[in-house]
Amino acid sequence: MVKLTDIPKAFVKGITHSWLSMVGAMVVTVTFPFLVGAVLYDTFMHIANPYLSGFIYMILGPGFMGGLLLVFIGLFFARGKEEVRLFTLDYLRDKLSDESGYNRIRKLVFVGVFLTCINLFVVGILAYSGYHYMESDAFCGEVCHVPMTPEFTAYQNSAHSRVGCVDCHIGTGASWFVKSKISGARQLYAVVADTFSRPIKTPVHGLRPARDTCEQCHRPEKFHGDRLVVKDKYLEDENNTHVQTVLLLKIGSAGDLAAESHGIHWHVAPENEIIYKAADWERNIIPEVSQKTANGNKIIYRSGEADEQIAAATNLEERIMDCIDCHNRPSHIYLPADEAINGKILTNNIPTDLPFIKQQAMKVVSIEYRTQDEARTAIAKELTNYYKSNYSDIYSQNRPLVEKAIAGVQAAYVENVFPEMRIQWDTYSSNLGHANYFGCFRCHNDEHESAEGEVISMDCDTCHTILAEDEENPEIIKTLLGGS
Ligand code: HEC
Ligand code: HEC
Ligand code: HEC
Ligand code: HEC
Ligand code: HEC
Repeated sequence: MVKLTDIPKAFVKGITHSWLSMVGAMVVTVTFPFLVGAVLYDTFMHIANPYLSGFIYMILGPGFMGGLLLVFIGLFFARGKEEVRLFTLDYLRDKLSDESGYNRIRKLVFVGVFLTCINLFVVGILAYSGYHYMESDAFCGEVCHVPMTPEFTAYQNSAHSRVGCVDCHIGTGASWFVKSKISGARQLYAVVADTFSRPIKTPVHGLRPARDTCEQCHRPEKFHGDRLVVKDKYLEDENNTHVQTVLLLKIGSAGDLAAESHGIHWHVAPENEIIYKAADWERNIIPEVSQKTANGNKIIYRSGEADEQIAAATNLEERIMDCIDCHNRPSHIYLPADEAINGKILTNNIPTDLPFIKQQAMKVVSIEYRTQDEARTAIAKELTNYYKSNYSDIYSQNRPLVEKAIAGVQAAYVENVFPEMRIQWDTYSSNLGHANYFGCFRCHNDEHESAEGEVISMDCDTCHTILAEDEENPEIIKTLLGGS
């Protein structure tokens, strides 16, 4: 009669007879306690450190599974020894026809099933936690440290900082998950081999269509009406004069049961499908735009130089217009220098009490530095020197004011410029307007003409009513606030 305790012995013997199994067993034994401890801890307490989670799910986890695999390969494929034959078909046949052996087999199967259950449980938890880990913002944004710092920083400062990277970049469904992991593996290699491009190229041509991502949360057929936009700016004079531009922006709607599509979100109404041809990777040169109208007609607008542009195309592409064609920077918003400095003044991170601070800030941040540290040092040095030599009374009596301004200007710089990734102020352009980049004017430039002679409108009132432009204390604001 075989005792129950013989069975683990047989396993151990079998394992010791195969080098592969030995190695596997050692790996499993060493990783198992750490792994179970770490996974349980992560499940209940949540590990915030992205590198630690990375170690658990990308090194310990696969290590454990690899070890397990080695044990089995060793057991089943290294033949010859009696202990190993335990697991072969011959042996099973022998023992099944023998009364006393039958008992032993049952126990073996029992132990086998028991061990497999434990292993499946651990592997299951691993796969589940690992999946969540790979979907986390920490994995996307922080583990891949150098290349993702700019996107991660800009994302954290945006309205979408609580929306996961994967909600826009992967969305739901298995096929995009797999696709993203394949491209992720390629990217991981690029990081390890240090061959990734600096800056990371945009637009992302493999981006998932917005209807599967943005439109899972936003429904442009549900927004209506106009939106008041107030832009606060500061002039480069001694007083850093505060001026405002006020626009009534015709946000409009993509149409709903009650209202026809109109205004800016007219483009994304299903009945107005807009397809355009772009002649360059950045989609800045648009030779042709076609619009499907509600009654099924098609209007084709072509730019005056459409044929030449298509012939000279570096990356000809046809695309259905969606959210990303205007909102290409919904979460990685890199501001132009002027807007970044104005923003910091508005929030009082840069005090306007310092004469010429806007001008000096613009001057010092417009220089190209090689690293963020170099920029920080230069900003501190230049501003200190300026106020020391030109406004020595302010400098000596109110040094905290200068220190505050320095910190504000440094923040404006490091939130938007990443020389290590070759990202300067204007590297990533936004298509949402037309003040700093081509944006809407890529199509709305009065040069795209249909066969009937209609043009895509550049009329200033198509998209907004300008209520004030760079005015000090504009009347309209007083009116809106009800003051006099
Ligand atoms: C609200 C949606 C959204 C979220 C959330 C988001 N992204 Fe993006 N991301 C985009 C869009 C849109 C683009 C530009 C696509 C284009 O122009 O084709 C982009 C571009 C990128 C690029 C290419 C370089 C660039 O700046 O254009 C990288 C890298 C990137 N995202 C990484 C991330 C990481 C990492 C996170 C999470 C920390 C994240 N994204 C979160 C929408 C998002
Ligand atoms: C997981 C849900 C989710 C997804 C996906 C998503 N958004 Fe958003 N978006 C939000 C939320 C929530 C806000 C409001 C944030 C706030 O105001 O604090 C928002 C705000 C916005 C705003 C207003 C931003 C501002 O500065 O006021 C725009 C524009 C926008 N989203 C566009 C997009 C686009 C384009 C995409 C696709 C690339 C997208 N969103 C994907 C949830 C989402
Ligand atoms: C033709 C360009 C264009 C397209 C296409 C477009 N948008 Fe917009 N969207 C804008 C502009 C411009 C604004 C106003 C931005 C501002 O306030 O500065 C805006 C505002 C928004 C806002 C804020 C609304 C509010 O009331 O403040 C959200 C959310 C938004 N868009 C989501 C989307 C989504 C989702 C899609 C795709 C289905 C989309 N947009 C397609 C240009 C566009
Ligand atoms: C790919 C080309 C393209 C781009 C880019 C584009 N549009 Fe348009 N837009 C069109 C076409 C085509 C029409 C229809 C012709 C027209 O009304 O002039 C149109 C019409 C409009 C209309 C009138 C809609 C109505 O009520 O009838 C508004 C408003 C508008 N666009 C705003 C914008 C804004 C704002 C942007 C930039 C954020 C923008 N468009 C970018 C192609 C484009
Ligand atoms: C196709 C739509 C469209 C047309 C046509 C258009 N604009 Fe705009 N304009 C916009 C959008 C979108 C913004 C950005 C609003 C924002 O940044 O929130 C804008 C912003 C502006 C601003 C404020 C810029 C700033 O940052 O201070 C001014 C000024 C302006 N437009 C003037 C004009 C003038 C003048 C014309 C006529 C030649 C014109 N626009 C035609 C869509 C348009």
